[in-house]
Amino acid sequence: MFTAAFIAAALPLLAAITPALAQGQTCNATSQCSSDYPCCSEYGFCNTGTYCLGGCNPLYSNTVDSCMPMPICESKNYTLSDTSRILSNATYYNGNASEYDWIVQQGTIMNATSGGQTALAMLLTENGGGTLISSTRYVHYGQITARMKTGRWAGVVTAFITMSDIKDEIDWEFPGNITTTGQTNYFWQGSIPAKTNGVTESGLTDTYENWHDFTLNWQPDALEFLVDGNVTRTLKASDTVVNGVSQYPNTPSRIQLSIWPAGISSEPAGTVQWAGGMINWQDPDYTSAGHFYAYVDTVSVTCNDPSTPTSDDTSYVYGSNTTTDTPSVSFSNATTEINAAAGLRAVGGAQGALAMAVAFVAAAVTLF
Ligand SMILES: *[C@@H]1O[C@H](CO)[C@@H](O)[C@H](O)[C@H]1NC(C)=O
Ligand SMILES: *[C@@H]1O[C@H](CO)[C@@H](O)[C@H](O)[C@H]1NC(C)=O
Ligand SMILES: *[C@@H]1O[C@H](CO)[C@@H](O)[C@H](O)[C@H]1NC(C)=O
Ligand SMILES: *[C@@H]1O[C@H](CO)[C@@H](O)[C@H](O)[C@H]1NC(C)=O
Ligand SMILES: *[C@@H]1O[C@H](CO)[C@@H](O)[C@H](O)[C@H]1NC(C)=O
Ligand SMILES: *[C@@H]1O[C@H](CO)[C@@H](O)[C@H](O)[C@H]1NC(C)=O
Ligand SMILES: *[C@@H]1O[C@H](CO)[C@@H](O)[C@H](O)[C@H]1NC(C)=O
Ligand SMILES: *[C@@H]1O[C@H](CO)[C@@H](O)[C@H](O)[C@H]1NC(C)=O
Ligand SMILES: *[C@@H]1O[C@H](CO)[C@@H](O)[C@H](O)[C@H]1NC(C)=O
Repeated sequence: MFTAAFIAAALPLLAAITPALAQGQTCNATSQCSSDYPCCSEYGFCNTGTYCLGGCNPLYSNTVDSCMPMPICESKNYTLSDTSRILSNATYYNGNASEYDWIVQQGTIMNATSGGQTALAMLLTENGGGTLISSTRYVHYGQITARMKTGRWAGVVTAFITMSDIKDEIDWEFPGNITTTGQTNYFWQGSIPAKTNGVTESGLTDTYENWHDFTLNWQPDALEFLVDGNVTRTLKASDTVVNGVSQYPNTPSRIQLSIWPAGISSEPAGTVQWAGGMINWQDPDYTSAGHFYAYVDTVSVTCNDPSTPTSDDTSYVYGSNTTTDTPSVSFSNATTEINAAAGLRAVGGAQGALAMAVAFVAAAVTLF
């Protein structure tokens, strides 16, 4: 829900650079994209090309296979200070998950040092908004741990979530006015649950001052939330069944890390209040650094796919509907790249070169 609010906040920026919106081609559950512009992007607009990559919604697109296949999970420990694996402008991403581990979908990242430890800083500014980075690979069950330090400012939210292309979502979220708690939540196909699924975990040592390992242990039968290796919450899939339908996150998901402004006037009053009030842009931390920030050190992923992929499998694909209201998911050897077709290799190469030409503006900084 709050991530959706963040995405909505990002829309004006995208609208300005998106011809599809000018043509009025918005897509949703009742209006799917036309065959000319078959892909419904994460932000709900029809087009081709990069709109068919990460976040492309198969249920809102022209057909369930309009979106590109999703790069399969890889068990790996990602060191985020290695910015060579992070593409700073998502416009240049072509779906090659071997080339980049992460893409910056919105905002600005920096190389940083916190207490002698190198890390990635995600920035938030009054004019530029927040920062959202997404993994290029998907996870279809597995254990994911992010070692991070959160913000500490009312209205500023730090988040570590998984998000599927049909909006199954699992959250760790940190409203910045309290730095001794973390909130856990989950959604199924974007549905706002009838009952509140959110749970606040308290008693953490200061999440701004200290590195913590936050874990989502997402397995087919149960979801565990952990702090520094200790389980704080367990959700059984069997406890999410409503009218015979398991409303449990069950589709391949990207990992997303973000810092976002919830305490701003364009957000709903409830969101502002949840985040601890309006952001104080005169905060000394902000005026001295020129931005608010959250740090990510490492993200480790241990995949646990329901079946074992063959060595030829490169991707997940959605299939036809099942009786459980969830499209089926299977492995595929199909490419994940939008311009990998034979004869278009040169185009792909040129794009790769362009991507490298995009200046990475990060400088080594010590933020406190
Ligand atoms: C769904 O998309 C159609 C076509 O763009 C649009 O007219 C309609 O307002 C949208 N519905 C919602 C609920 O956004
Ligand atoms: C990303 O690259 C595109 C194409 O060069 C450019 O129009 C856009 O402004 C860039 N985005 C950012 C956030 O730098
Ligand atoms: C994808 O990226 C990897 C790593 O940069 C590269 O070796 C490979 O050739 C790329 N694949 C294609 C089809 O361009
Ligand atoms: C960030 O820091 C790491 C570790 O010191 C270094 O390897 C990397 O090149 C730096 N990245 C940039 C863009 O400066
Ligand atoms: C984890 O749980 C153990 C046993 O209850 C406790 O001793 C330890 O302090 C906990 N660790 C953290 C980081 O909370
Ligand atoms: C933070 O904001 C929440 C939600 O408005 C509120 O319940 C809580 O009292 C606030 N905590 C502090 C320490 O300001
Ligand atoms: C990832 O690897 C680094 C370096 O070996 C290690 O310090 C860190 O604890 C690992 N992170 C996780 C979350 O396992
Ligand atoms: C699957 O079935 C559900 C319930 O009938 C429906 O809401 C959904 O749109 C269907 N999805 C596809 C891809 O047909
Ligand atoms: C995928 O596998 C099929 C059947 O083995 C094969 O014919 C096809 O060429 C493969 N496609 C790719 C992109 O490797």
